[in-house]
Amino acid sequence: MTSAPAHPFLHAFAPPAKPESDFVTIVRGRGSVVYDDKGKDYIDALASLWYCQIGHGRGEMTEAVTAQMERLAAYQTFDPFTNEPAARLAEMVSERSPLPDGRVFFGCSGSEAVDTALKLARLVAQRRGEPDRQVVIKRTHGYHGTNFGGTSAQGIAANREGWGDLVPHFLEVPNRDIEAMATAFARHGERVAAVIAEPVQGGGGIYPPPDGYLEGVRRLCDRHGALMILDEVICGFGRTGEWFGAQTFGVTPDLMTFAKGVTSGYLPLSGVIASRRVCEAIEEPGFVLRTGYTYSGHPTAAAAGIRNLEIIADESLVERARHVGRALADGLDALAADGLIASHRGAGAVRGAVLEGDAAPVRADMLARGVIVRPIGNVLALCPPLVITDDEIGRIIDTMADSIRAVA
Ligand SMILES: Cc1ncc(COP(=O)(O)O)c(C=O)c1O
Repeated sequence: MTSAPAHPFLHAFAPPAKPESDFVTIVRGRGSVVYDDKGKDYIDALASLWYCQIGHGRGEMTEAVTAQMERLAAYQTFDPFTNEPAARLAEMVSERSPLPDGRVFFGCSGSEAVDTALKLARLVAQRRGEPDRQVVIKRTHGYHGTNFGGTSAQGIAANREGWGDLVPHFLEVPNRDIEAMATAFARHGERVAAVIAEPVQGGGGIYPPPDGYLEGVRRLCDRHGALMILDEVICGFGRTGEWFGAQTFGVTPDLMTFAKGVTSGYLPLSGVIASRRVCEAIEEPGFVLRTGYTYSGHPTAAAAGIRNLEIIADESLVERARHVGRALADGLDALAADGLIASHRGAGAVRGAVLEGDAAPVRADMLARGVIVRPIGNVLALCPPLVITDDEIGRIIDTMADSIRAVA
């Protein structure tokens, strides 16, 4: 017996054998709420996939994007071309970052940003006359996208498996252990091009850094001539209560990746901020940076980024992230006091509720009750739009409590 052909849509991070009809069809969104094709509403407690800082359905974004499309929808930025939205967004991003004299390279996805940052780190070593400096230290539970560089940099073993050989010279250390990092440097220091780390690990289970950890990584990088890459794809643009996680945790990296919150996901856009020091290694007249993407500096995506950053500033959403984080933490404290969850952790408005068992059945029950969260092992990840209301936060917490009781 031959099975019926599957639907043409092959989903990301999903079982290919799952029928299309078993997926939830989201048809519209407004603020922190999305609706499916049957009219059911859901609180989007994950901001889609950690990205929708300003909430769904914002007319200002439609207007900004439409205006740009009517002028010039798209044009390439390979030499000799540029465009005003991309140049303006580069200024806006660098001004808000801890690298105000840095430069911004654009891509479309976090994975493209990560692979570019890894290439730039190695390029700097090559150009400084250190051809053997190619090792990248990465951490358990790290998530750095799914291109080959990012897959090799993953600290989530399951995401690395099944693809054949990955990129060589990646070295994994435990995620919150500065001694392990120091040992790796002691053994391989002269060969280390960079360390890559998320300020708060997101996809691997919401692990904030221990006090002083990122400063310790910074010191080790400086001592051994390596670059520090902060992967800010989730933490960037207010999520941790400052524009970037680097500022929340008081460190200045050499390279920073961003995506998601830069446009709140209205259009795909990502980038790498390169520090002055990194730029100086490549700004030699005559040298050509031979990497980039067709859509690097896409003007309509950049227009979405500009309008999104204006909204984040106008509505004080960076400060609001601290309030959202406190409200989530208070709710989760209450669940822990009632013995419903074991603990919780996070920073700003990205938090994980640690359950006693597998989080997947609780996620399924919460989804049925109209709240979207993400299960990661025994953790339920929360990362709502920064415009979420206190009532909506209350509904997330109450639903989590109901679902944990129901599943138990
Ligand atoms: C920290 C981090 N880096 C990189 C990525 C990859 O981004 P994308 O899925 O846009 O390629 C993600 C995606 O969640 C991420 O969380």
